[in-house]
This record gives sequence, C-alpha cells and structure tokens, in this order.
Amino acid sequence: MKLFDVYPLYEVTPVRAKDVYVYDDHGTEYLDLYGGHAVISIGHAHPHYLNSISDQLNKIGFYSNAIQNPLQNKLADAIGAQSCLHSYALFLCNSGAEAIENALKLASFHTQRKKVLAFHKSFHGRTSAAVAVTDNKVISAPLNAQHEVDFIAFNDTEALKTALATKTYCSVIFEAIQGVGGLDQPDEAFVLALEQECNATGTCLIADEVQAGFGRTGTFFAYQHYPIQPHIITMAKGMGNGFPIGGILVHPSINAQHGMLGTTFGGNHLACRASLAVLDVLQQENLQEHAKKMEFYFRELAEKQPAIRNVKGRGLMLGIEFDFEVGTLRKSLIYDHHIFTGGSSNKKLIRILPPLTVQKHHIDFFFDALKKALEQNIQPS
Ligand SMILES: Cc1ncc(COP(=O)(O)O)c(C=O)c1O
Repeated sequence: MKLFDVYPLYEVTPVRAKDVYVYDDHGTEYLDLYGGHAVISIGHAHPHYLNSISDQLNKIGFYSNAIQNPLQNKLADAIGAQSCLHSYALFLCNSGAEAIENALKLASFHTQRKKVLAFHKSFHGRTSAAVAVTDNKVISAPLNAQHEVDFIAFNDTEALKTALATKTYCSVIFEAIQGVGGLDQPDEAFVLALEQECNATGTCLIADEVQAGFGRTGTFFAYQHYPIQPHIITMAKGMGNGFPIGGILVHPSINAQHGMLGTTFGGNHLACRASLAVLDVLQQENLQEHAKKMEFYFRELAEKQPAIRNVKGRGLMLGIEFDFEVGTLRKSLIYDHHIFTGGSSNKKLIRILPPLTVQKHHIDFFFDALKKALEQNIQPS
C-alpha cells in the first residue's frame, strides 16, 4: 500500500536522535534547529524522559478515562506550579488541533454562542473548527465553511470592539506569537484591549499556546509576557517532547459538566508520564531562562549578518527575515550544511525552533553555515 501523499518531503531519513542532533540512515549528523516543528523541548532522547516512559510502560501504559488516573492530577499540579496558574483546571487530549477543538467547543458551551473571532495569518490546526479559525482558505474544505468565523488584523482595536459589542461571539482565539504565520506579535495595548473587551462582553479569550507554550519563549506561556488572564489556554507540541499529548487549561469561571468533553486516548498513563518528565527537565535544567539567554545570543549574531533584515519572535521561537525567498537557502542549510530549520507562510522568513537545550556553540555553527550558504547559493539584492 502506498502512503496518501499529502506531505512534500525532504530527502532525509532520520533513524536516531540525541539532544539537538538528528542522525540519518547514512550516519550523517544534522543540527536540529526545527525541533520537529517546535515539538522537541527538552532535547531528543533525554535520559530522564526515556527512563520515565519505559518505567511507566512496564507498569501500565493505558487505561480509559473511566477509571482513576492519579498521574493526571500529578500533571495538573506540575503544570499549575510551573505556569503559576494554580486555579485553572486541566483537560487532556492528544494533539494541538484537538486542544483547539475542545477550547472552542467549551467556549461555545459556556457562552451558548456560535461565532468566533480570529486573526489574519493565524494557524490553529486542520480539523473541523480549528481549520475554520485558521486564516488559510487553501486548507479549508467546503465542510469547514459551516463554522461562523470572522478574521480581523492584530492591533485593530476598533474592529475588535465593533465585533464583540454584538455579543454573538463565543470566543476570540489568538496566538501571542504567530507560528506558521511568521512570528508576528500583537502590541501590548491591543492584548490588554482583548482581555478587557472579552470580559466586558462575556466572550471567552482563548490563548493558543500549542506552539509557543511550555517554556519556549522564556515564560511558561507566551501570553504571560502580558498581564492578562485568558479563559482557556491550549497546549500541545512541547508538552510531550514528541509523545503525542495536548490539553487545555480552563479558568475557574468556567464550570465543568460530566460528558461535555471526552476522549479515549487523552491523558493516558504514558502520555502523562512523558509530560511530567518534560516538566522535571524544564525545571531542573532551567530551560525557560536558558531560552531567554539563547535568544539574546542569537540576536547578537544575527545583527552581524548583513543579509538578515529583521529578527522576530521571542526566546527560542525565532524568525529571521531576508529580502528574498528562502526556499533555496533552507535547502542548502539541510543538504550542504546539515541543519534543519523551519519555513512559514512568510516565504522570506526562516523559523528557528530548536530543542530548548541548544547551546551557544550550536548557534555559532548555524551562523557560520548561514554565511557560507549565502555566499554559495544566494546573491542578496
Ligand atoms: C499555534 C498552533 N495551534 C495549533 C496547531 C495544531 O497542532 P497539531 O498539528 O498538533 O494538530 C499548530 C500546529 O502547528 C500550531 O502551530
């Protein structure tokens, strides 16, 4: 049987990985500045992570959500402690899009409203409501058009106020740093207005932290760079360091009812243990602080590379913008210099999403390679 061909693939076959390196089937070492799309948070094959998962698998890997699973409570406590969101409640699922679906559904249950307000260049996933609140018509099927969604620009406070004043929106969903969209961030004044208008109109504010959460931007969640309290927070990628797990955190003003949300696999023993191991390492190795330091170092070196027009993002969720399209450059970084980087819907931007364990010498290596690749392949205008 052949694979349903939906992914354009690079010609690399990783068979092994350790910390910030990935090794292909010929033994070639690649520096991973992509983290499998911001998924690898504590580094590939971290010993504590491996030991935790194998220990748990030897005990019990899965049983359904119809029984007690104290590992879920332990995970809720650990996320509460590291995010300082002790009063929020945790619901677990398996992926980013699933977290978004649950967040939107919960907001709709809570407000008894249907419409959603989202932002230009947003990306929230590919399932039913998640793709409907994503600003990309190409990946949305006619079926997804059933959702009532409006899109406005970041920082357009008038449009925000006008929309929410109708009191017909169940939620506003935003990324504090847009991932796929190309690392744009709203202004602080607009984020404060978001919270204020949501509270004034009984609308839920959903912070999509699927990509930016779990320490990647130097705070536990990226929205925590602003003094706001969203009603629902979605998380996934960095949460399991590659083990599929997602979740939402729910503000205490939203009540749970039995049956309103549910999943077979979500919150299973193995997934909880994987995420607990991630949280242990984040704390023990002080990776949130480390992400800030590495951002500083990265920006210092980026300033010395004249082809770079702009550095966007925070912590280890960064983008470097050029005044030409970067497809050829990224291919050269992979095939000639053995460095994985990420792209975005901004074709002139390279995304940098490494494991949070990345060190200065890896960043040095990247900028040396970038210089060579620019000299070899690209003639900036
Ligand atoms: C901000 C954001 N939300 C949601 C998603 C969807 O996550 P998943 O691919 O796990 O469904 C993504 C994936 O890239 C994302 O970046």
